[in-house]
Amino acid sequence: MRTSLTKELEKYTQLLEAQASQVEKDEWRLKFHVMPPVGWLNDPNGLCYFNGEYHLFFQYSPSDPNGSLKYWGHYVSKNMLSWEYKGIALYPDMPFDCCGVYSGSALVEGDQVWLYYTGNVKLPGNHDYVNTGRQGNTIAVVMDKDGHMGDKQLVLTNEDYPADVTCHVRDPKVWKDKDRYYMVLGARKKGDKGCVLLYSSTDRMSWELANVLETEETFGFMWECPDFFCLDGHNVLSFSPQGLAQNGLDYANTFQSGYFMVRGEVTGAYTLENFREWDRGFDFYAPQTFETGDGRRILMGWMGMGESDYVNLTVERGWQHCLTLPRELSLKNGRVLQNPVRELEQYRTDRADYSLESGMEMAAPLCSDILMEELKDRDFHLCIDDGLTINYDKDKKIFTIEFLPESPISGGRTARGVALENLNSLRILLDTSAVEIYVNGGEEVFSSRMYPRDLEISHGHSLTLAAGSGKMTMWKLEERE
Ligand code: FRU
Repeated sequence: MRTSLTKELEKYTQLLEAQASQVEKDEWRLKFHVMPPVGWLNDPNGLCYFNGEYHLFFQYSPSDPNGSLKYWGHYVSKNMLSWEYKGIALYPDMPFDCCGVYSGSALVEGDQVWLYYTGNVKLPGNHDYVNTGRQGNTIAVVMDKDGHMGDKQLVLTNEDYPADVTCHVRDPKVWKDKDRYYMVLGARKKGDKGCVLLYSSTDRMSWELANVLETEETFGFMWECPDFFCLDGHNVLSFSPQGLAQNGLDYANTFQSGYFMVRGEVTGAYTLENFREWDRGFDFYAPQTFETGDGRRILMGWMGMGESDYVNLTVERGWQHCLTLPRELSLKNGRVLQNPVRELEQYRTDRADYSLESGMEMAAPLCSDILMEELKDRDFHLCIDDGLTINYDKDKKIFTIEFLPESPISGGRTARGVALENLNSLRILLDTSAVEIYVNGGEEVFSSRMYPRDLEISHGHSLTLAAGSGKMTMWKLEERE
C-alpha cells in the first residue's frame, strides 16, 4: 500500500537523486563496489539470487551523507559486480517502521521473494531507548517477479520477544531447512549481554521461539545482524557484536563482525566455538551471506564503521560509504576463507608479470587486481600511493596495514594487524578509493577506504616495494556491461 507519505517521500527522493549526476563526477566514486547514488549507505540487506538475477538492498539515507532516516535502496545484477540501481524498495511510511526501515534479509520462495526487516520506532517521551521507548518490529513484505512489493505485514513485535531482552531486537535473517523456516534476530539482553534469538515457523508468518544462542560469558552488549548458514557440513553463526574491548591486535575497531563455528543442535544443545573476525581492516561491519544459483555461499559487508574516529573525505562531495566486493566462502581447517567472487576475473585485462625486488616502483591502474605469490620467509613492506603501507614482520610474525602518519590519504586511519605464522600470498584489489587485501588465500582480509588525490591525472596508484621478494601478476580491472 502506498500511503500519502510514501508518495511524498518518493518525490523528495527523486529530487535528491537528481543530484547523483554531480556526485558521479567525483574521482573517488568506485567502479566495482556498490555505493549509494547520493547520501549515505550502510548494511547490505535482502541479498538473494532470484529469477536469474542477483538482488541487493541496502540501508540508504539519500538526504544526508552522514546518515539519517533509513530506507531500503535496491540494486540488481547479472554477475554481482555490475549493478543497476532500481530505486527505493521500501520507505519508512507506516506507523510500525516510521523511524527507519532497518536491516533484514530475503527468502526466495518460487516466484516470490519474502523480505523480512526491522521496523524501527522511537516513541516520544523520556526514554533511554534501550529499556523503554523503542520498538523493533519484525515485518514481512512479498516481492513478486516484476519487483512489485505487497503490503507490509507485522510478524513479531516487542511483546513477542522473550521477557529478558531489552527493546533492542533487530535484523531478521530467514532461511528454509527441509519443511521449516528459521529466523535469527540480534538482541541485547537486560544486563547488557548480546545474544541471538532463533525462531521457527511452518508458514512464514507465525513464528515461535526455538532457542537463544549466546556465550556463557558476556561477549559484547549487543549482537547485530546475525546470520546462520551451513558451509561444507559445518554450521556457522555470523554476527556483529558491539562492546568488545580491544585485546592486542584483536577487536581494534569501534564495533566488530565475526563468526562462531556451531557444534551440536542449533535448536537444542549447542556450543559456540572459535570466534574469528571476518575482516581486520578499518572499514567493515554488518556482513550478510546468501547462496548463488550454483550453490556458492557469498558474503558482502558494509565497508564502513559507525562511530569511528576516522572519516571519509567523500562526505563533502555528497556521499559516503560502499559495500565490500562479494566474497566466496569456503572452509579450510575449521576456519572460513574469503575470496573475491570468481566473476571478477572476467574484468581482468592488461596482464603484467613482475618478479619482485626490494626498491621496485610500479604504477597500478585505478582499478587493479594484484596477486603476489611466493612471498615466503621474508620481511615485506609495500607502500601504496605514498600513504598506505602493507607489512609483514617475519620475526614477530605480525602482518599489519598502516597509514603513514603524515599521509593525507588516510582520513585519520592509523594501523591494524593480525598475528600471522607465514606470509605466503597477497591479493590486493584497488578500486579508486577502496582497497581490499586478501592474505594467504583469504585466511585474513583487510578492508579500508583511502583517499589519494588527483587519481585521474596520475591515471592510477603508485606502488613502492621497500622489502620483499616473490612474483607478482597485475591486471587492470576494466568496467564493461
Ligand atoms: C548495523 C545496524 C543494524 C540496523 C541498521 C540500521 O549497522 O545498526 O543493527 O538494523 O544498522 O541502519
